[in-house]
Amino acid sequence: MNRMNAPRKITLAGLATTAALLATGCSTAPSTAELDAQAQAMILASFRDQGIAKVARLTQDLGQRACSADAPPSEALAKQVEAEALATIRWPSNAQYIGDWREGEKLAQNGRGMTWTDTSDKPAANGAQCYNCHQIDKAEISFGTIGPSLWNYGKIRGVKDIAAPESAAVVQYTWGKLWNSKAYAACSNMPRMGHMGLLDEQQIRHVMALILDPRSPVNQ
Ligand code: HEC
Repeated sequence: MNRMNAPRKITLAGLATTAALLATGCSTAPSTAELDAQAQAMILASFRDQGIAKVARLTQDLGQRACSADAPPSEALAKQVEAEALATIRWPSNAQYIGDWREGEKLAQNGRGMTWTDTSDKPAANGAQCYNCHQIDKAEISFGTIGPSLWNYGKIRGVKDIAAPESAAVVQYTWGKLWNSKAYAACSNMPRMGHMGLLDEQQIRHVMALILDPRSPVNQ
C-alpha cells in the first residue's frame, strides 16, 4: 500500500465510524473479514504479471495464510500445515542424498533467481541463497543471521560417515528440511527449496554435501 492511500483510508474509516454512530442499528463498520477481502482485492489490482513473476504468487496456501494471520496458528492448525508439508517431500531417487560440497558452496553463495528480470524460473537459473540467512563456512564472513549457524552442522550431529546407518536420521531430516521447511516448523521463514521448484534434486544433493559431508570445510 502506498502513502497516497493513507488519507483515503482515514477518511473511509472516519465515515464508517460516523455512519455507525448515526445509524439506528442497521449499519456497522466493516468486519475484519470484509477489510481483508478489500485489501486483497486492492493488492491483486495493483500488481500484474511481469516476465517470470506472476500475480499467482500472491495466492497464499494453507501454511502462508495460517502464518500471516493476526495471531499465530493454533497447535492443531500448525500440525496440519506440517503434516501437509511433510507429505509433499520428494525423497531423492536411488536414495542418493549427497553430492559435491564444492558445488554446494557455489550454490549457497549464489543469491540469484526468481526476479522479474530473470528469463527463466527453472532451478538451473537459481542460486540457493543459504548465506542470506545462515553462517555456513567460516571462510565466508558475510552472512545473514535469520537462521541458525550451520558451521560444523554435520560434525556437531556426529556424522562421521554419511552412508552409515547411524547418520540416516539426520541425513533424511536435512533433506526434508531443504525440500519443504514447513514440514518441521509450520511458520518457517526458510524457502521451500524443493517444493517450490527453486532447486532440483541434484542441487539439493550439493548443498546437503556442503553441510553434512565430513570432507566439507564446514565440518573441519
Ligand atoms: C530466508 C532465510 C533462509 C534461507 C535463504 C535459508 N534458510 Fe535455512 N533456515 C532458516 C531459518 C529461519 C531456520 C530456522 C527455523 C526453521 O526451522 O525453519 C532455518 C533452518 C535450517 C536448517 C535446520 C537447522 C536445524 O538445526 O534443525 C537447515 C539444515 C537449513 N536451514 C539449511 C539451509 C540451507 C542449506 C539453505 C540454502 C539451500 C538455507 N537453509 C536457506 C532460514 C533460511
